Formats: sequence, C-alpha cells, structure tokens
Amino acid sequence: MSAPDKKMADRIHALREKINHHNYLYYILDQPEISDAEFDRLFDELSHLEKAHPELITADSPTQRVGAPPLEEFNTVKHSLPMLSLNKATTEEEFLDFHRRVLELSAAGDENIRYTVEPKFDGLAVEVIFRDGLLSLGSTRGDGMVGEDVTLNLKTVKSIPLRLMGNKTPDLIEVRGEVILNKEDFARLNKERGKTAEPLFANPRNAAAGSVRQLDSRITNTRPLTMFAHGTGVVSGKDLTNQWDSLLYLKNIGFKVSEYTALCENIGQVKDYYQKILKLRDDLPYEIDGIVIKLNDFALQRRLGEISRSPRWAIAWKFPAQQEHTIVRDIIVSVGRTGALTPVAVLEPVRVAGVEVSRATLHNEDEVKKKDVRIGDTVVIQRAGDVIPEVVKVIEAQRTGKERPFVMPDKCPICGSKVERPEGEAVHRCTGMACPAQIKENLAHFASKGAMDIDGLGYKYLEQMVDKRIIEDPADLYFLKKDDLMKMDRMGDKLAQNLLDAIDKSRKPNLANLIYALGIRNVGSHLADVLARNFKSVDTLAKQTVEDLTQVHEIGPIVAQSIYNFFRNPKNLKVLEKLKKGGVRFPVEKSDFKEMPLQGKTFVLTGGLDSMTRDEARKVIEGLGGRVSSSASKKTDFVIVGKDPGSKYDDARRLGIKTLNEEEFKNLLGR
Ligand code: IVH
Repeated sequence: MSAPDKKMADRIHALREKINHHNYLYYILDQPEISDAEFDRLFDELSHLEKAHPELITADSPTQRVGAPPLEEFNTVKHSLPMLSLNKATTEEEFLDFHRRVLELSAAGDENIRYTVEPKFDGLAVEVIFRDGLLSLGSTRGDGMVGEDVTLNLKTVKSIPLRLMGNKTPDLIEVRGEVILNKEDFARLNKERGKTAEPLFANPRNAAAGSVRQLDSRITNTRPLTMFAHGTGVVSGKDLTNQWDSLLYLKNIGFKVSEYTALCENIGQVKDYYQKILKLRDDLPYEIDGIVIKLNDFALQRRLGEISRSPRWAIAWKFPAQQEHTIVRDIIVSVGRTGALTPVAVLEPVRVAGVEVSRATLHNEDEVKKKDVRIGDTVVIQRAGDVIPEVVKVIEAQRTGKERPFVMPDKCPICGSKVERPEGEAVHRCTGMACPAQIKENLAHFASKGAMDIDGLGYKYLEQMVDKRIIEDPADLYFLKKDDLMKMDRMGDKLAQNLLDAIDKSRKPNLANLIYALGIRNVGSHLADVLARNFKSVDTLAKQTVEDLTQVHEIGPIVAQSIYNFFRNPKNLKVLEKLKKGGVRFPVEKSDFKEMPLQGKTFVLTGGLDSMTRDEARKVIEGLGGRVSSSASKKTDFVIVGKDPGSKYDDARRLGIKTLNEEEFKNLLGR
C-alpha cells in the first residue's frame, strides 16, 4: 500500500470506529455525546471516502446499514434450535402453579430456584447470527422452526451491531430478541400514513413486523426500529451457564438489553417485580404486555425441557388488557393547524388502565368506513401509554338498529368554508384561509417549545387574541402593545409585561426552530433540523425547486412539494416579511465545513463519467459545499460533460455556461 493509500485506509478505519462508538452511545446506552449534525458529518465523510475508494468498503461499515434495492421474495431460514413460544399466566394463581411445577420437575428446593425476569416486549421475534464476530444472517421467528431471511432489513436496525464488541468473540453466536417500534414513532408513522391514503398500522407491533418483513430494506431503514436482545440459540466458543450471565454477556458484546431485567431469589421478588413493571408500563417509550419469568440455571432448564414448543422453564405473566368497551355518543370533527378534519368519537367516559377516556380518534373518513363506526355503537377502545386512545372495533352483536352512520361535513364546522379531500390524500381539509381553528392551531404551534418557544403564551391567550381580533397571524405577535394585551380577560399589567418580554426574547430563534415554527406541512422538528443544516437560511430554503429539495437525504417528493408550495404562497411570504419587520432575526448559518471550495456553486451533470456514477458525483459536489441541479439555467456555474451528453450540453453552450470535461472536473475536485 502506498503512503497516501495507507493514510486513507487509516482515516476510514478511524471514522468507522468513531461512528460505531457514537452509534453505541446513542442507540444502546441512550447517552449521546455529540449532536446529530456532528454525527451526520462523520457519516458523510465516511460515505464520501468510501465512494471514492469502493475497494475499502467492508460489510461491517456503518454505511452498509442504509438498505438495498428491493428483493423479489425472502429466502427461508431453518433455525438450528427452534424458537419457542411461551405459556401464559394471567393471574398470580397461574404464576404460582407454574412455580409449583418447576419445583416438582426440577427436584430442587425452593432455595435453589432463581428466576431471571424481563419485560415482555410487544414486537416481532428475530434471530441474528454472528460468525467470527460478524453479522452473517438475520431471520424472523416464523413458525418457530422456519423463518424468513431478513438480513438486509435487520442491518438497518442500529441497536443490532454489525460486528460484536470486544477482542474475544465466539466463533458462533445466535442472538434472539424482539424488534420493536417506540409508541411515539408508531404514532408519527401512522400520522404520516393517515395523510396519504396508505392503510394505518393497528399497533406498534404490527408496524414493527411490517417494517421488518418489508421487501425494500430502504423503507425499513426509514423506520426507527430497536432490538432488545433476550436470549441465545446455538453458541460455540463461549460458555454460558445461566440466563442472567447470558444477558450480561449480550450487553457486553454490544446488544441492547433491557435495563429492567432482574435476578429474583424467590417468588416474593418476582411478584414485586411484576407490580413494579406494571406501574412503569405507561411511562415506557415502547409497549410491553407483561413480564417473562425464566428459570435462571441452564442445567435446570434442560432438566425441565419443553412441551409442545413451549418451555416448561419459562412463563409469560401477562398484564391486564388496556382495552375497554364503551358507547360512542357522537362523532365530531376537529380542525387542525393544516386544516385537516379529524373525526373524533365522543365516548361514554370509561377508565382504561387507570385513566379516564372520553374521546378517541378515528383518524380519517376511510378509517371510520373501514371500522364502520356509527353513533350509538358499542366499541372496543384502546389506550397505550401516550398514544391517543383509539377505537379498535365495533361490537356488532350489540347493535340495535338505531345507530347512525357518520357523514363527513362538506363545510368546515368552525368557519363554514368548503371542505375538500385532495387527490391521493386520506384527509379532508378546510379550504378557508382565515379559518379561526387553523389560525389558532397554527399560532399555538408557532409559539410552542421547539418552535419560537414563547414562554407563557398558551392556547387560552391565543384563542382570545384571535377571537377578539387582536392578531391574525403569527407575525402580529411582534407588533403587540401592552394596551392590546390588556383587552384580554384576566390580564394584568405584570402578566402583559411578562408576555411582551417572552415575545421579545423569541425574536432570536435558531434556524431549525424558526423553520419548524413556520408550520410547513409535513415538516416536523427533525426535518426542520435537516433543512437548517442543508440550506443554512430561510431565504436559501425559499429559493429551492422541488428537485433541489429532493436531492437532500430524507426529503421525499411529498415533503419537497409542501416546502415548495409554502414559499410560493403569497400569504406566507407576507407573513415572513412581516416577521422580519417585527424584528425577528432570520439567522444565516455558517457552513460547518472548514473546506467548502464549491460553496455557492451550482452544477449540472450530463453524460456518463468513467470514474464515478452520477450519484457519486452529486455526493462529492455536495460534500464540498456545491449543489447539483437537474437542468441548466442562467444560475448554473458549471456543466460537467461526460460521454454521450444530452441536451443539457446544448443548453450550456446556448447559455454560455462554463463546461468541464471529466479531467477538468476531477481537477476542480482536487483529485
Ligand atoms: S424468551 C423460551 N423473552 O414472546 C423463550 N420472549 O410467546 C421464548 N417475547 O416469541 C422467548 N419479550 O417474541 C422471551 N423477554 C422476552 C420476551 C419474549 C417478548 C416474545 C417473543 C416470543 C414470544 C413468546
């Protein structure tokens, strides 16, 4: 290896180590030490270098987690050891029965029985096999004997290592665990799907299973899945004698193991553990449906064996259901910030797992039709942690014939404007530009934490401000005088001053917060961050075409279109101008890169290049601060002309744009 090559290989190696380390801190320990932006920077540098040196790419490089072109079908995988299911206990009595059987069959005294206890994750069971420390195969449980080869999909799951940690890795280890999707991510995913006409997932488990059993691993890669490791299959080259040590070992070699696992010395401790986890259930970010109790000692496990594919040495002690029956008193429609009309079931109040529920979302018209929910129906409703309660299904046997079907109104219930259902969407929207419901929701979003963060400016005040016509849009906030505020109910001098101070403080937002605050449809706080990092100012963002926007990783055509539309709407532009006049600072961020030789330059590519694909060329240009556009215009700085160029070459000549051949292009890149 020549000296420069060695230097390159070393840098690539160092980047991988660094990225793996930060991945581990983020996904396994939940203790990130660097910002997303810094992480992306490391990742981009590595991708960039690997693109230029494909011969240095390895299967365990973090860049190999992004998914690959879709498969026709999955191959099947026979598990070397069957993946068992668990017998269930639903009462303490049933658990005690289990314990009695364990005592009997093991012929061990009570004092010799120890149980490892774990949460029962509600997800999809998978197995990942590591040979010589490297992830070699990932499969679903399937029927327990045979599953599907989902290796590409599981590689996108960041909590599954691609290479085991530690110097002494076993020759072979089969790790078993549960792939889950957090409740919050599930809600977000369904919200997105609710906007387009895609069918909704019934619960986080189905969403996780659907994501893992997805032929296009690039789609899996967009789903923030996690795997909790909870056991092993065949292991060779490492002696494991009990469940507790196995879990510790799995943790040490880089897997995510639940922090709530425990080793119980007696059944009193198991009962306490059950109560503790039951209380914790709603506060966990993911769904669990009980606890799993496993005889700790592997020798004893073997002595007990299994019966009809369930071990005699383990049991799932399930939690009570989080579903209840109640009656739908009415179905009303709520209007959101983007004018979306959401049908909401008004329920006969009922306590579900300790919380009173009187409303449940029905998502959209298609969902109401699919579930055939009618006013007067008895329904099953479900609550899961912080996910909004929802109607699971109708109990048809309880129908009397007096139930009334729901009809989506053709006029907005708030402002009376026409309601439309845009093509390809599942949502109905109010078309009223001045709909007070939309304005209020929009203002609440604008003022919220993570947006302009105007302390103390809650919905109650905003509602009054709109109703009393003190303000019409977010920018009006920055022109408020104390007298205006004093028009509100229960407002005093001091309170008014506090609000004015809070508004003033919000005049200096950071860029991502400002973009988020604008309330561009489909742009949540994460995408706002992505946009801020890529475009550095609102003004630059406003100038992008749909095509420019889709060049950014994570921005798809729908989001790109809504960003584009936002900045083409004269009403929005007026608000932006007014915000500036009102003294809101529009930050322009400096480039993160020290060396951005192509900053501000726009390129167009035509024809084939020998040394790289077009996509690679785009990444290289972007990596150096430039932008690639799909068509040549007066704004284009360079047209790169490869073999068999298309009409863009003619455009370039016609417009007098500087053209570069491949050699010249490489020189410009400094290669
Ligand atoms: S151990 C014999 N541990 O429950 C060992 N399973 O009904 C069987 N599950 O297919 C698996 N959390 O998908 C085990 N902490 C945990 C679990 C767990 C969830 C699932 C797993 C399994 C099913 C068995």
